[in-house]
Amino acid sequence: MSGLTIHSKLKLSSGYEIPLLGFGVYQVPADQAESCVGEALAAGYRHIDSAAAYRNEAPCGSAIRSAASTIPRQDVFFTSKVRSKGMSYESAKAQVDTTLRESGLEYLDLMLLHAPYGGSEARKGSWRALVEAVEEGKVRSIGVSNYGVHHLDELEKHIAELEAERGGKGKGGILSVGQWEIHPWMPRHDIVEWSRQRGVAIEAYCPLVRGERWGDKALQDLAEKYGKSAAQILLRWSLQKGYLPLPKSITPSRIRDNAELYDFEISQEDMAKLETKEYAPCTWDPTTSAIDN
Ligand SMILES: NC(=O)c1ccc[n+]([C@@H]2O[C@H](COP(=O)([O-])OP(=O)(O)OC[C@H]3O[C@@H](n4cnc5c(N)ncnc54)[C@H](OP(=O)(O)O)[C@@H]3O)[C@@H](O)[C@H]2O)c1
Repeated sequence: MSGLTIHSKLKLSSGYEIPLLGFGVYQVPADQAESCVGEALAAGYRHIDSAAAYRNEAPCGSAIRSAASTIPRQDVFFTSKVRSKGMSYESAKAQVDTTLRESGLEYLDLMLLHAPYGGSEARKGSWRALVEAVEEGKVRSIGVSNYGVHHLDELEKHIAELEAERGGKGKGGILSVGQWEIHPWMPRHDIVEWSRQRGVAIEAYCPLVRGERWGDKALQDLAEKYGKSAAQILLRWSLQKGYLPLPKSITPSRIRDNAELYDFEISQEDMAKLETKEYAPCTWDPTTSAIDN
């Protein structure tokens, strides 16, 4: 994994490229989001992860548009997510238009379904709305967040059904990206394996475990050994695992530090020291929800 830079990107199944390092804006207050995203863009991030539920798509869009004279729109990757509450074909379709209007952007790079709630019909309908949004040029790539393997298997079935119903190959949409809580204490081997086998890019949320693991001995030892912060070790671990980490911060110095990940490499031996078999989410885990939920 040497050779990573802040400009490193991954080619998605959709054909578009996504910058590996993202900037998360969950719990970034709307009145601070424009300056935080501005800081992130100035620090070199080119990938912003928002959601309808975060109520800050508008200031994120403003920051991206304000920077456009120096950072062209096509160099920035903007993600939003369809609310998991009240999922349906109609609400997902409406959400794409709302996000476009709120952000003031002409297209969205990635739209995700935020969580697998609402039952099978709601999930299939919401996915179809995203497929249509791609066909209409409103969204470039689509994916899901917080889907468990049972939801992912169902999505594959839905894609095949939509192909049959809508006129053939490709008409069911392409699952390009999945987003889950992933860090050493939440390795999610089953989902990672499922995604890797199908070329689905894996975004890692809560890559800093919301600051809850700074006291971990193995993490502290590696921070000391490499002369890096514990945050930088966790983010570099995520990148070297092949994930796309989405650190969040409202603190300018941390925003910058969290992007300084490219002047060191964690050895394979030390990567292994961070592996755990724990299941310790630091937030919700909709992957475990029942298929009929
Ligand atoms: N799809 C989903 O369901 C879902 C769920 C959760 C998160 N996400 C996405 O993933 C992103 C990241 O997750 P998250 O925000 O929950 O957690 P996180 O990035 O793991 O942690 C954020 C916390 O760490 C602190 N922090 C950041 N950099 C630090 C540093 N260098 N040193 C010490 N503390 C630091 C931040 O404080 P300050 O802000 O005060 O600096 C904040 O309290 C979200 O913003 C969102 O985009 C998605």
